[in-house]
Amino acid sequence: MIEITDLHKKLGGHPVLAGVNLRVAEGETLAIMGPSGTGKSVLLKHIVGLMDPDRGDVIVDGISVPSADREGIGEVRSRIAYVFQNSALFDSLTVRGNLFMGLPPGACDGRVPECTAMARTALEQVNLSDDVLELLPAELSGGMQRRVAIARAIIGKRRYILYDEPTTGLDPINATRINELIARVSREVEATSIIVTHDIESAFFLADRVVLLSGGLVQAEGTPDELRETDHPAVREFLDAAPVAGVA
Ligand SMILES: Nc1ncnc2c1ncn2[C@@H]1O[C@H](COP(=O)(O)OP(=O)(O)OP(=O)(O)O)[C@@H](O)[C@H]1O
Ligand SMILES: [Mg+2]
Repeated sequence: MIEITDLHKKLGGHPVLAGVNLRVAEGETLAIMGPSGTGKSVLLKHIVGLMDPDRGDVIVDGISVPSADREGIGEVRSRIAYVFQNSALFDSLTVRGNLFMGLPPGACDGRVPECTAMARTALEQVNLSDDVLELLPAELSGGMQRRVAIARAIIGKRRYILYDEPTTGLDPINATRINELIARVSREVEATSIIVTHDIESAFFLADRVVLLSGGLVQAEGTPDELRETDHPAVREFLDAAPVAGVA
């Protein structure tokens, strides 16, 4: 379980997170929506200890991330896969090299054939052929790079997967493919997923529970159906600004 309590963070003199409380239960798929610049990526970075809060706590499976030592942070990161905003593949590594980075450090030393077999399975799960194994990221389309980033996240069979804007910047066909892929991965890998997105359609399609982050706080949370029907002003403002079929 991931428990975030009273999380505060100022950046550049401005309060970005101003008392965020959030719990993510085992097996759940949670979507975090919110306007651009509202602190969604900052929140994810606190979960893996890439940023330290000014106040408050993030507890992953009983480990307090802000107060964890190097070993504790290593343990937390071994449980969490992070699909960064814009895929963030290693430019100089092939797809195979990138996928190996999703495995624990040293896992492939002397075991390249076994690791390559795992890489093939991960590629199959994201509907990519193993023809791409020796290609560099620059030789792939944007949609394929996202798939490789997701394959890198699932290859290590981690308990939690954090996706930061997995469909942003993709055309609608590729965005739909990625959403279907994430939905299938959530079912098959049985991971607990957090998906950050400002794409309302993605959030409502993928999530068991949706949270609206705005003004540094969780303004509302509920199932997609609950949020569609709510008259909570912050939710209505967000949903009505970008109406999609069945939401407005
Ligand atoms: N390392 C940093 N130093 C200073 N300010 C930062 C840093 N990282 C983020 N910020 C600021 O914190 C705020 C929240 O940023 P964040 O990237 O979390 O937004 P976001 O909700 O993920 O937006 P988007 O939807 O555009 O990705 C922004 O105003 C951003 O400029
Ligand atoms: Mg972001």
